[in-house]
Amino acid sequence: MNEDQVKRRPVSNSSPSEGGGIQEVSNMIAIASGKGGVGKTFFSVTLAHALANEGKKVLLFDGDLGLANVDVQLGLMPKRDLNDVIRGRLSLDKVTQHYDEGNFDIIAGRSGQASLSALPSQRLAYLRDQLTDICSQYDVVLIDLGAGVDRTVRMLSAAATQTLLISTDEPTSLTDAYAFIKLGNAAGVSKKVSVVVNQATTPAEGQKTYKTLLKACENFLRITPPLAGMIRLDPRVKDSIRHQTPLLVRSPNSEAAEDIEKIARYVGKIIVQARRKLGKR
Ligand SMILES: Nc1ncnc2c1ncn2[C@@H]1O[C@H](COP(=O)(O)OP(=O)(O)OP(=O)(O)O)[C@@H](O)[C@H]1O
Ligand SMILES: [Mg+2]
Repeated sequence: MNEDQVKRRPVSNSSPSEGGGIQEVSNMIAIASGKGGVGKTFFSVTLAHALANEGKKVLLFDGDLGLANVDVQLGLMPKRDLNDVIRGRLSLDKVTQHYDEGNFDIIAGRSGQASLSALPSQRLAYLRDQLTDICSQYDVVLIDLGAGVDRTVRMLSAAATQTLLISTDEPTSLTDAYAFIKLGNAAGVSKKVSVVVNQATTPAEGQKTYKTLLKACENFLRITPPLAGMIRLDPRVKDSIRHQTPLLVRSPNSEAAEDIEKIARYVGKIIVQARRKLGKR
């Protein structure tokens, strides 16, 4: 990335209700990306599974409102979803369902639902508050966000103790990841971003991708986002998504599975640290 590319990135115009003054929740982790299609949902599902395999009680919230696809990747047909919450029919804890195969809970969204994709700020804040409330029932709560850094992403990630930002080595993905960090930093929301490099052809290439992003952040923003880990490009990922079966069931010994299990341990450590810092919440 050169200076011109990063300087063209916009600055934030978020309001305090989007993030300022929101209490951080020590076990809430958001999963984000600048550019779409880089592997957020696959990573969220597999990370939830890996954490559940460690014996943790995990909730995966489909926060890609209006374009939900956690249920699709897992081949589920949810009977209840976020739409019931938005319409005031059910509270958030009532739409939670247990996903037996992965032994974790899911709150499914609904794809193509205009009422979800264009929620007014007040309703979105209410949804976020309900989500924050049920965090105390879990060891870890993961939010699979939509791509980019729009109002919904900013609001949903505001309470997260950490945002795992996914990028691949594609220049557009890297530039958009930088924009995400810049906007998040300026807005005062999700300041704690760790980077996950996905689809790395080799560990050395993954390091190179991280260093490129890091250099831009250090030079232009004076911040140093740590590397949460990298996930290798692995044909088993496509295969598992195509079969709507979790990677940790279909190919538990694959390279990508191994990499995400490693990141699960990193996430475990982040939560322990956040708990210590914030008290018990
Ligand atoms: N480590 C990997 N190795 C190989 N392919 C991968 C890997 N990670 C992701 N993919 C591919 O990328 C595709 C997109 O993944 P996914 O739907 O999880 O992305 P996303 O970021 O959630 O997309 P969106 O922004 O549309 O929500 C997958 O269908 C899969 O084919
Ligand atoms: Mg997705």
